[in-house]
Amino acid sequence: MRRPAAACLREAARALTRPGAAGPPSAAARRAVSVRGVDIDDFSRLHLAPSRFGLDPSVTHLNHGSFGATPDLVRDRQDELRREVERDPGLFFATLLDRTAKARNEVAAFLGAEPEGMAFVSNVTEGVAVALNSVPLQAGDEILLCDHAYGAVEIAARRRAELTGAGVVKVTLPGGTDGDWSGEEAAETFLGAVTSRTKVAVFDHITSNTARLLPVGRLVEAFRARGIVTIVDAAHAPGMLEVEVSAVGADFWTGNLHKWAFAPRPSGVLAVAPRWRERVEPLVPSFYQGDGFPKNLEFKGTLDYTPWLAAPHGTRFLRELGAAAVRERNAGLVARGQAILAERAGLVPWRSDPELSMRVLRLPAGVATTWEQGEALAAEIWTRFGCRTGVKAWPQAGLLRLSAQLYNREADYERLATGLRELLG
Ligand SMILES: Cc1ncc(COP(=O)(O)O)c(C=O)c1O
Repeated sequence: MRRPAAACLREAARALTRPGAAGPPSAAARRAVSVRGVDIDDFSRLHLAPSRFGLDPSVTHLNHGSFGATPDLVRDRQDELRREVERDPGLFFATLLDRTAKARNEVAAFLGAEPEGMAFVSNVTEGVAVALNSVPLQAGDEILLCDHAYGAVEIAARRRAELTGAGVVKVTLPGGTDGDWSGEEAAETFLGAVTSRTKVAVFDHITSNTARLLPVGRLVEAFRARGIVTIVDAAHAPGMLEVEVSAVGADFWTGNLHKWAFAPRPSGVLAVAPRWRERVEPLVPSFYQGDGFPKNLEFKGTLDYTPWLAAPHGTRFLRELGAAAVRERNAGLVARGQAILAERAGLVPWRSDPELSMRVLRLPAGVATTWEQGEALAAEIWTRFGCRTGVKAWPQAGLLRLSAQLYNREADYERLATGLRELLG
């Protein structure tokens, strides 16, 4: 049962006992914001200084969604592990498989996944590629995805299609330049594109460029009923949402731990339904090829495995803070941030999902409609105003993507808004 956000916030505030943790609430931070009917009146109670994440405090970091940031307690654990490797590599590698299995069990419990059906992967780019390779395809088959899919995911689908003779069908979700669709409308659009040739559907839990929530449970069920294999790109879900991977029931579900679950990068997982586990092939043949999933995917020769071993410290940190409180706080703050950008920089907010810690706004017409233009604008915002933010190419008008994490305050969005008002006139 969900606990009231206010109670979670109080508990989490008590947990922030390290130096540099939240100071007294500022007047601005006391402004009330309603998140799913709950008033969160105090963003600073769960604030951690950017330095607690190793972030440069002179930079305004508003793009957590791209690469994440790791709290000091977790980086300390990873540093210890690295020292352990250097002290006696032989001993470390002799214990690696058992320790990986232990870490996997803990992360699987956090995600509500079956531990024997989940493997660590470096990231979702790898998870999606492995999943696509595991599904037999032949000439004439179709891979279904949508225009909100992440770029590397679409590239992987097109590559797989090229190699097998299959085709890629890319559906356009409704709503035009404002992304004004409901989950139900998105599901209907997806399902409307199914043909007798559709073999696999790839879709996001939370879309990357547009920060929207797709109804993954509904989609998985509907595709399964039509005999279509499902691959869920849940890159942003671990940590940002309460997830129950087994309940989603996808054939393949892959998520990053380094974005919102406070794990060091790179660390991701790939959860695989029982019927596919024997078919899973690592991208690079493993020494443990014969042992099958998940070991064949996890052991990739001599590498730095410390991000995976430290990952449970990230999920534990989130739990100790109170995952629900962190989510409510970040979702509330990014809602406030979106409102600040709309009010002060005149950008048009996209339709948003209140439980997410990312939101987007539409840039003026013609701005950042190509990837190169988006990157150039992000670089200009960085050099002129010291703000890191996501600028995503979108037809007709690019999108500004905002994130909120514990190191952010309202003042960060105010700084970006002031800069953008100057830049965009
Ligand atoms: C929806 C989505 N899928 C996949 C990825 C790829 O993640 P990674 O670069 O960690 O593989 C991202 C990265 O931002 C993403 O947003």
